[in-house]
Amino acid sequence: MDILNTNEVDKVIKDYKPTHIIHLAGQSNVKLAWENPQVTILNNTIGTLNILNAIKNYSPYTTLLSIGSSEEYGSSSEVLEYIDESHVTHPKNPYGVSKLSACQLVQQFVGAYQIQAIHVRPFNHIGPKQSEGFVTQDFAKQIVEIEKGRIDSPIKVGNLSSVRDFTDVSDIVSAYYKLLLNGRIGEIYNVCSGIGVSIQELLNEFVALSESFIEVKVDPSKFRPIEHKFIVGSNKKIINDTGWNPKMELGQSLLQILDYYRKL
Ligand code: GDD
Repeated sequence: MDILNTNEVDKVIKDYKPTHIIHLAGQSNVKLAWENPQVTILNNTIGTLNILNAIKNYSPYTTLLSIGSSEEYGSSSEVLEYIDESHVTHPKNPYGVSKLSACQLVQQFVGAYQIQAIHVRPFNHIGPKQSEGFVTQDFAKQIVEIEKGRIDSPIKVGNLSSVRDFTDVSDIVSAYYKLLLNGRIGEIYNVCSGIGVSIQELLNEFVALSESFIEVKVDPSKFRPIEHKFIVGSNKKIINDTGWNPKMELGQSLLQILDYYRKL
């Protein structure tokens, strides 16, 4: 269904009365959000509102897992800090605004209408088959194209100085499952590894996993209008409440992403 079509959303939720909904539909690319903020706000915020409204009207016993983002915090600290759920929220791009607005609507619907909802703030997640336009895909695809002789070195990269917190998508999925079972209704949960990795380190790991000679060229057109230096989270709350713990090492995830492109 189209989450912007209220008739369709209402009908599906009324007909199925699902026990659980994991709401992942949305525009998730930060760069694209700068290029098309309207589409981002519409899908991420109004789309979530439509689902909340349908649950309120037609299926009040549904548990909703609303997927937000660490971009809601908009941390711009110059020193590494571990962002927990009580951290101030000052989103720095339209994507972060769209997800924070969705989060606030979720909390209002929980308070006003007793909707059974939990809001999640996942930090960067990675894995094979992620859409292009995210950093690991952009790097891996170019490296494999060089390995296969389809393009020449160098690979083009954006800002290498930022620091992010990466979790394998398989661990993210297990976090969502555990939150549906044991998360507290009305709460916000970070999903993250708690480990900060600079994009330069990420690139170095990728290059080390390839036998080809990879040169690197920084391409200013890949920079964003505003860039966060550090986005690293605290995962204490989800671990305490659900027993979740990420299992995949970063190197394993990067190898799986490279191997995915190698087999294409
Ligand atoms: N995409 C991309 N491509 N990013 C690059 C590149 C490149 O070639 N070179 C450097 N970067 C830098 C970006 O400037 C950014 O600092 C970092 O790598 C990560 O970029 P993305 O993978 O595009 O992710 P993001 O941090 O902007 O947003 C992701 O994480 C959020 C959670 O923190 C997305 O997955 C969001 O949907 C998610 O909510």
